[in-house]
Amino acid sequence: MLIRYKKSFEKIAMGLLSFMPNEKDLKRLQQTMKQYETEENRQLFLWKEGEDIIGLVGVTASDSTLEIQHISVNPSHRHQGIGKTMIKALDELYPGKTLTATEETESFLNKCDLNENKEKGSE
Ligand SMILES: CC(C)(COP(=O)(O)OP(=O)(O)OC[C@H]1O[C@@H](n2cnc3c(N)ncnc32)[C@H](O)[C@@H]1OP(=O)(O)O)[C@@H](O)C(=O)NCCC(=O)NCCS
Repeated sequence: MLIRYKKSFEKIAMGLLSFMPNEKDLKRLQQTMKQYETEENRQLFLWKEGEDIIGLVGVTASDSTLEIQHISVNPSHRHQGIGKTMIKALDELYPGKTLTATEETESFLNKCDLNENKEKGSE
């Protein structure tokens, strides 16, 4: 289940964020967290299964797009489809917006077949 970030999840969120290649530096990581907490167009979501938080996805929203800035899954839970499920859940949460990637997230986003359903729908 996709849930919105709140302050009580700060440590787990930082731990998950730190798996992103560009977020290894603690100062940079703290700055990124601050941006998610303070900038209105930035949103951080966590993926919860039972009592465990095992994934994170962070976006920057515009009127028409949702840019995936960060995506991370706990290493013990990878290769089970959670990354793709999070992207799908986000797409469903914002039906009016097109998901886009950054240089950092595009390799995974390209594997998510995001436009498959939309293309089918328009046939
Ligand atoms: C990327 C990540 C979120 C995927 O999570 P996941 O739950 O394992 O993803 P899924 O199970 O839905 O999909 C797995 C597939 O994603 C692909 N994949 C994993 N990491 C990838 C990457 N960095 N770039 C492109 N594709 C990637 C693989 O093809 C994998 O297939 P496999 O299971 O056959 O090996 C996870 O590997 C992670 O947290 N990585 C560290 C953070 C990171 O680098 N994020 C940016 C990724 S561009």
